[in-house]
Amino acid sequence: MIVAPSVLSLDYSDTKKQLDELKKSKATWLHFDVMDGHFVKNLSFGPHVLTTLKKDLDLFIDVHIMVDNPWLFQQIFIEAGADGITFHLEACKDDDDCFKLIKEIKKKGKKVGLSIKPNTKVSSVKKFIKDLDLVLIMSVEPGFGGQSFIEESIDKIKELKKLIEQSGSSALIEVDGGINEETGLRCKNAGADVLVAGSYIFNNDIVKAVETLC
Ligand code: DX5
Ligand code: ZN
Repeated sequence: MIVAPSVLSLDYSDTKKQLDELKKSKATWLHFDVMDGHFVKNLSFGPHVLTTLKKDLDLFIDVHIMVDNPWLFQQIFIEAGADGITFHLEACKDDDDCFKLIKEIKKKGKKVGLSIKPNTKVSSVKKFIKDLDLVLIMSVEPGFGGQSFIEESIDKIKELKKLIEQSGSSALIEVDGGINEETGLRCKNAGADVLVAGSYIFNNDIVKAVETLC
């Protein structure tokens, strides 16, 4: 299991110590939530924060853009050092816009992911599945850390797993929101490959919490 701690929940008054703990943990990805105050009702970080955090870390930088203008922000965060960009299907103007954006991110040599909100059907990613490196199932409404896991996400993971197998796609399944030891295990059993966790990791012993999700 790939574990991607979400720095939305990092204690920024204690950054160095928490990053040192992360380095000791089994996490291989770092999840970076970008929010624009429009697509979701919250603001998070700009590119400088990513560049600074990344300096001393040997982790895959997994950037999740929850923004109305994914074209603008994919560019900004790739320049800042993202290894992968995941944007929202709901933020695309139409299918063509989504296909073009997938192509653009790949052209820059980065991994590309497509995310769907809790009320968006898994079948809506079908037409894009072969072109994707990752599909992100949001298991809470995007915007805030610390929310409870939405149960229906388990069935969505199973459905997505089938879709990926049937289409011969190599896309990973990532799950984000309300992940802890118990919900993480259920996502793993349903077919998830990557677990994002913010509050569960940073509000506990970081090394131990990551271990329980592996
Ligand atoms: C929410 C973000 C998540 C968030 C998860 O919109 O996409 O990555 O950090 O936080 P927890 O793990 O606390 O639910
Ligand atoms: Zn996220």
